[in-house]
Amino acid sequence: MLVFDQKILCSFMFLLTGVVGQMVQYGFVSTCAVRGSTVTLPCSFTPLASFTEDGKEIPLKIVRVRWCVNHLICQTTTPSVYDSNSSNNNPRYQYLGDMKSNCTLQVRDVQMIDNATFRFRMEADNVKGHFTKRGDGIDVRVVETTKMSIKSSSSNSTFRRGQTVSLQCTSGDCTVHQLEMTWIKDGRALSETSPALLLGPLTLEDSGNYSCVLKTDNETRSDPFRLQVEADNKSYLPLILGGVFGVLLVVITLILVIIIKRKRAAMSRNDGGGVMEQKPADSIYTSIQPPAAVQPGTQRMETSQETEDVSYAAVQFSANKHIRKLEETANSTVYASVVTKG
Ligand SMILES: *[C@@H]1O[C@H](CO)[C@@H](O)[C@H](O)[C@H]1NC(C)=O
Ligand SMILES: *[C@@H]1O[C@H](CO)[C@@H](O)[C@H](O)[C@H]1NC(C)=O
Ligand SMILES: *[C@@H]1O[C@H](CO)[C@@H](O)[C@H](O)[C@H]1NC(C)=O
Repeated sequence: MLVFDQKILCSFMFLLTGVVGQMVQYGFVSTCAVRGSTVTLPCSFTPLASFTEDGKEIPLKIVRVRWCVNHLICQTTTPSVYDSNSSNNNPRYQYLGDMKSNCTLQVRDVQMIDNATFRFRMEADNVKGHFTKRGDGIDVRVVETTKMSIKSSSSNSTFRRGQTVSLQCTSGDCTVHQLEMTWIKDGRALSETSPALLLGPLTLEDSGNYSCVLKTDNETRSDPFRLQVEADNKSYLPLILGGVFGVLLVVITLILVIIIKRKRAAMSRNDGGGVMEQKPADSIYTSIQPPAAVQPGTQRMETSQETEDVSYAAVQFSANKHIRKLEETANSTVYASVVTKG
């Protein structure tokens, strides 16, 4: 909001100063820098091309550029952090600009003393061309190097495949947008060096522990951020397993019920002594009808034994069929769900 307002103000000022022709524009109003880091202060300027004196137009040329801190005008006696006329500027302050339009300053190895407002001043070969934009400047807020921390664009740490997530490396309330970072994933450095790490579309391989650290200070290394990408079918697996298990349970119960029923039927038949009372549908049973000549006692025993064997065999057979059928059903269920997933 502040930046936006500032921009509007800048444009307005430009309209006003455009008449005169002098202008300084800073890339932003304020920035935050971690001690020991490098910060670049973007700046552009438009010098006055000429002035009129005694009816003559005299061209102007910028001969000196300066940056000072905490001073509204940066005039003659004000100490500068950078002065193009000086031969012993502190090498921490690098002027990346020129004498025509670019006044960008880079501050390396930021110190607490840089917690200040920076302003640019241009000086021409005539005093009429000297200019400092009053008021405006770049506020640099310096914070101690502390442990970095990772902010995720999402509140959860578990993600599905195909999603995207951005991890932001921050230091307290200072978003270090100009810093050189090293991103580390599971102990290995990544190629990304900006404070924001954009991941996505996520694959399973993106899972891991991420941390970030300032290139200049290993002690700033953040706690690991654990990112987990889940396989899509993972949540379905328990369902499928549960389904198969349930089907098996039903099959086993069915088998038991059939066995018990058969046994009971056989027992009740034997008790009544009527071998001929059996169901006509049971062809296996009918085929082993006992010979009439055998003594009643023996016959009963044998029949009982055979009945048990036969019913057991019959049950086994039908149960196998059941299992196979149900397994097929289960398989086709799994298959169907896999297909629908894909
Ligand atoms: C000014 O110079 C810096 C450093 O060379 C460069 O990054 C920046 O883009 C320049 N700005 C403009 C407006 O040309
Ligand atoms: C940095 O400057 C701001 C004002 O611009 C001030 O509030 C803050 O206390 C200063 N921080 C340090 C560490 O001097
Ligand atoms: C990530 O860290 C957790 C502990 O915080 C550990 O259990 C896990 O194995 C680590 N993962 C990798 C891939 O190193």
